[in-house]
Amino acid sequence: MEKEKLHIIPHDHAIDRSDRERLLAQKARLIWFVGLSGSGKSTLASRVEQELHQMGRLTYILDGDNVRSGLNKDLDFSEASRVENIRRIGEVSKLMVDAGLVVITAFISPFRSDRETIRELVGSDRFVEVHVDCPIEECEKRDVKGLYAKARQGLISNFTGISSPFEAPEQPEVRVQTHLNDIDECTNTIINYLKNKDA
Ligand code: ADX
Repeated sequence: MEKEKLHIIPHDHAIDRSDRERLLAQKARLIWFVGLSGSGKSTLASRVEQELHQMGRLTYILDGDNVRSGLNKDLDFSEASRVENIRRIGEVSKLMVDAGLVVITAFISPFRSDRETIRELVGSDRFVEVHVDCPIEECEKRDVKGLYAKARQGLISNFTGISSPFEAPEQPEVRVQTHLNDIDECTNTIINYLKNKDA
């Protein structure tokens, strides 16, 4: 059966992002943390948010396990579901950036093409890709959630880095190495980058 054409005509509202940015005295951004499970994305995202909050920025964090308990609870970890997971998060992030917020996301987001699509969606001048770089051996040693052990036992399928691919960013705006530098150092690297960009 042929799909009916949808007649959708977007409306331009009187108040736009620049009005909201002026009200909030900030530049809306999307700070996109990418990395393996256990690399430290959520911990760092939370620290960076606290710093930005102190600096008077209106922020919001979108986090893997949280979003997967609500908006994306219908999705699993197959390749198609991960693409859809990131696509929806990209669209939600775009709305939040349009609302004037500094949005911080923490998702494995293993596929390069999905991340590049989001960069284009929100505009590259507002997109800050942060690679939370940590060797899988170290993530596995930490195994905060006990998931690597389960994946090795074959109890979890499609596990990133073990039975599902991870495409590391080639040219992220920021790269932090959580196995070499502590959380304060990694947070400072990110905050300094953002301050320079805002200056
Ligand atoms: S993504 O690949 O689609 O971006 P997302 O960041 O939303 O992943 O979710 C990753 C989190 O789900 C991990 O931190 C981990 O706690 C949990 N998880 C459960 N199963 C898997 C799996 N097969 N691969 C990776 N993470 C998993």
